Amino acid sequence: MKYINKKLKIESINIQNIAKKFGTPAYCYSYKQLKENINNFKKNFKSFSPLICFAIKSNTNVNLIKEIKKFGLGADVVSMGELMMAIKAGINPKKIIFSGVGKTSNEISYAIDKKIFLINAESKSEIMEINRIAKLKRKKIQIGIRLNPNTDAKTLNQISTGKKENKFGVNKKTFFEIINNFKNYKNIELKCLSVHIGSQILDHKPYEKMLNVVSKILNQTNHKFEFIDLGGGMGISYDDNSKKLNYKKYNIAIKRFLKNHKSKIIFEPGRSIVGNIGILISKIIYIKETEKKNFIILDAAMNDLMRPALYGTNHKILPSIKTNINSKKTYEFVGPICESTDKFTTLKNFQKLKEKDLIVICDVGAYGMSLSSNYNLRPKAIELLIKTSKIIVIKKRQKHKDLM
Ligand code: LLP
Repeated sequence: MKYINKKLKIESINIQNIAKKFGTPAYCYSYKQLKENINNFKKNFKSFSPLICFAIKSNTNVNLIKEIKKFGLGADVVSMGELMMAIKAGINPKKIIFSGVGKTSNEISYAIDKKIFLINAESKSEIMEINRIAKLKRKKIQIGIRLNPNTDAKTLNQISTGKKENKFGVNKKTFFEIINNFKNYKNIELKCLSVHIGSQILDHKPYEKMLNVVSKILNQTNHKFEFIDLGGGMGISYDDNSKKLNYKKYNIAIKRFLKNHKSKIIFEPGRSIVGNIGILISKIIYIKETEKKNFIILDAAMNDLMRPALYGTNHKILPSIKTNINSKKTYEFVGPICESTDKFTTLKNFQKLKEKDLIVICDVGAYGMSLSSNYNLRPKAIELLIKTSKIIVIKKRQKHKDLM
């Protein structure tokens, strides 16, 4: 995105024009940025050409997944719905991994029928259930085990998944119990060890620690894992001064690991692929000045973008037309929902705003639309894909009648 003649553009399209034609709130994704992110991701790890499985949960739009698929990516899914969507988008089932702590028998059965690449199991009970269902179907299927490496990802507590108090994966003791008794499971093959320590990780050190834990564990077993799935979690910068993940150092750590443990690496990135491709365009409905605060009441709300209300995170906000006239006031950007957490951010020294102005909330391509809801019976926003000078509607705005 950039300002040209003070007007904000996404690729070559004016934000004002998008809002005029498609209304607000509107999610808009940049194809160019998507392409750049995927190419960069591949380049960062090209020496060992990993299998990259896009984490569908970060953005479930079928048309966007279709574009991602064209770059050869597979998918990481965590529910039957996501699995169905990945298949609908044309992703090769041989590149689909099913993660998650609570897969139901139905979901396991469906995954086996669709002949997906791997089911990453997260408990002994789940392994028994997969084996039972595979036996009924007279099949032998490939699975992975997710290890909980008890590694602090140094990210928000709510999105940390690799510590021993988290529900994810199995601990070292259970891990060894499983592999030592694996011969009892005749209908499954143990192909993969997986880990995923959390999301929005900006420091490479937790990844190094995680690799050390995995390496030590592998040294204590004779079982050969064909695949090591390192999950996703690579963070992005939500503001101009936050640090960036050092991909070089992460890459070096993986190469060092591979010297001792020959295997194919799998990644499950979500945010690093789609996070910065998306914006949410919103219109100011009212400006309300109280003794305490100046509220900018937007037509986008926490049902459209849940991250600030759920995790207290900040997304950059930009005016669609730059005036360079600063407001002396502090603005609090809020939505119309009947909850005090329906608030995006508080900004000082923002430019002077007036009712009906358009603003843009940045970096909402991951966990934006996919976490949205119909709370307060608000229809979901439209989703648009910008491909150079074309605007493609990739999901229509929901109508009230869809909700009745
Ligand atoms: N693999 C597994 C097993 C996961 O649980 C996740 C994310 C990913 C891969 C992808 O992680 P990523 O590369 O996107 O960091 N709603 C939160 C993020 C929750 C992430 C959940 N798991 C947010 O808005 O920040």
